[in-house]
Amino acid sequence: MKIAIFGLGYVGAVSAGCLAKLGHTIIGVDQNKVKVDLINAGHTPVIEMDLDKLIAEGVRSGLLRATTVAEEALASSDISLVCVGTPSQPNGNLDLKYVRAVCREIGASMPRSSKHHVVVMRSTMLPGSMNSVVIPELERASGRRAGEDFEVCINPEFLREATAIYDFFHPPKTVIGEMGARGGDVVAALYEGIDAPLIRTAIETAEMVKYTDNVWHALKVGFANEIGTICKAVGIDGREVMNVFCQDLKLNISPTYLKPGYAFGGSCLPKDVRALTYRARSLDLNVPILDAILPSNEQQVARAFRMIMDRPGRKVGLLGLSFKAGTDDLRESPLVELAERLIGKGREVLIYDHNVQMASLVGANRDYILNHIPHIARLLQNEIGHVLDSSDTIIIGNGAPEFRDVPGRLRPGQTMIDLVHLDPSSITTGSNYEGICW
Ligand SMILES: NC(=O)c1ccc[n+]([C@@H]2O[C@H](COP(=O)([O-])OP(=O)(O)OC[C@H]3O[C@@H](n4cnc5c(N)ncnc54)[C@H](O)[C@@H]3O)[C@@H](O)[C@H]2O)c1
Repeated sequence: MKIAIFGLGYVGAVSAGCLAKLGHTIIGVDQNKVKVDLINAGHTPVIEMDLDKLIAEGVRSGLLRATTVAEEALASSDISLVCVGTPSQPNGNLDLKYVRAVCREIGASMPRSSKHHVVVMRSTMLPGSMNSVVIPELERASGRRAGEDFEVCINPEFLREATAIYDFFHPPKTVIGEMGARGGDVVAALYEGIDAPLIRTAIETAEMVKYTDNVWHALKVGFANEIGTICKAVGIDGREVMNVFCQDLKLNISPTYLKPGYAFGGSCLPKDVRALTYRARSLDLNVPILDAILPSNEQQVARAFRMIMDRPGRKVGLLGLSFKAGTDDLRESPLVELAERLIGKGREVLIYDHNVQMASLVGANRDYILNHIPHIARLLQNEIGHVLDSSDTIIIGNGAPEFRDVPGRLRPGQTMIDLVHLDPSSITTGSNYEGICW
């Protein structure tokens, strides 16, 4: 393919060298003449292992050159990769001035190219940037319509500096956010031969994935450092602890616990987070990430509560009371907390949980629920049907399989709030269904 690459910094220069290596014809564009001259002389404009060699090879073979003139690059390309910087503004907001400017340049030169051009954004941009900035700027400057006269995609970059060439050829995944298949097909063809999962999705999803990844990586580093800080203070080797931690590929390094939904609870997680953060405090250690976990969890309870309070009708049917399906453990169940708040605000709450029968609750579990909702026996129902018949709003509180057919049993006017992500295939209703994070 003939590819114009806008922005010859870390991402643009690496993409240029690697795509030339794959046999594509590349013309790089940067306003910085020094970078352009370096590339044309066969040198890399950034320090990155093996990049000098790739750029020298590309220039020598005639597959790679650079220019400061956008029009020149567009005239001889089928596809534009945009890799300009997206720095922070002083207030932390994302600065899209380079993105706006480059879109205007590409848009202005596009009409002179007769081909169906594909503009691919590789710069990291907040969700909504494509629709509110990139597409309008391109359309205004070109006088053409995205999706009709030219194609637009976002293809986030996952390379890490210092291992960027390796990462380009062995990415964890390739993500293409596309307006339509025509543009997505062209971008997918760029990566033919690269062995990585190819994920084609909506533009906003691709935009958000990049931030989710980077925030997660930042959180991992901060988490490991805080655990290490506590370890050192109590005389344990933090490296050894994290090494053991990382060997658990079922619960620790895995998709487990990474699905948006309701708050965590139960007899272990809240208690143990509390104990460890108390220990850190008593050692005068500052662990803001660990300290934020319980307040964050409380916010999720508050969010669910507000969603329910915003619904019309006073009668609320809560399906599930224990913190997860398949247990009767009510200790620190965030559903008990939710029921308490709703009752406190005058909602009439009926509860169904197959595993929770008053007569069988014993010990600390029984004490817990009686301390929190003393008249729980009157609220607990034996039949799910009675709760469904008597409620204005139905809450799916845990993932018991028997709740899967609830969407199909709603009557007109009833609404359902899903805290656990019911199987999407079972959801047949539209506006009367709302998920807590979807
Ligand atoms: N650096 C990384 O490791 C990395 C990894 C993944 C994603 N990203 C994202 O990729 C984007 C680029 O990052 P970078 O580190 O390569 O940035 P960079 O600052 O190193 O390079 C950006 C380049 O764009 C050029 N530029 C600005 N406006 C231009 C225009 N109108 N026309 C042509 N060139 C123009 C600049 O002169 C500069 O050379 C950012 O959004 C960044 O968040 C970076």
